[in-house]
Amino acid sequence: MALLPILEFPDPRLRTKAAPVDPAQITTPAFQTLLDDMFETMYEAPGIGLAASQIDVHQRFMVIDVSEEKDHPLVFVNPEILAKSGEQVYQEGCLSVPTIFADVTRANEITVQAHGRDGQRFELHVDGLLAVCIQHEMDHLEGKLFVDYLSPLKREMVRKKLAKQRKLQQSDAA
Ligand code: NI
Repeated sequence: MALLPILEFPDPRLRTKAAPVDPAQITTPAFQTLLDDMFETMYEAPGIGLAASQIDVHQRFMVIDVSEEKDHPLVFVNPEILAKSGEQVYQEGCLSVPTIFADVTRANEITVQAHGRDGQRFELHVDGLLAVCIQHEMDHLEGKLFVDYLSPLKREMVRKKLAKQRKLQQSDAA
């Protein structure tokens, strides 16, 4: 297993729209290893979701685990939202936008269909944090980030804050 580098805002590669995965590819050793590496990277960060787009792989899949014990890994390949209802506001963060948190309004309940890591299609009806996380990760596959829901002024503040942090990290390392 290996830790993968995570792209960070405002890296333009995060704006790439991901292409569908050929379902026959899911059970290949290369794809399974990539999924293991993504889980390892996500748990290490630590985070509760990671989309392939964030590791510069522009295909439609993502890994998620919102459990306390980190023992409920979920894989979504070619996810589609079949139905959504209600509204919830959650203070979101993102491994591609480190140290930034902001309220985002999303559907409270969703029905999602995807292929799992065994290649089989499944359907899930979820709400709360898992629903937030699935919608957030699916945005990544469209090249969209949670900071896009903020005003342009706030987004510019986020960009400046991250640039400043990176500069500090670089001078620490020097
Ligand atoms: Ni994210």
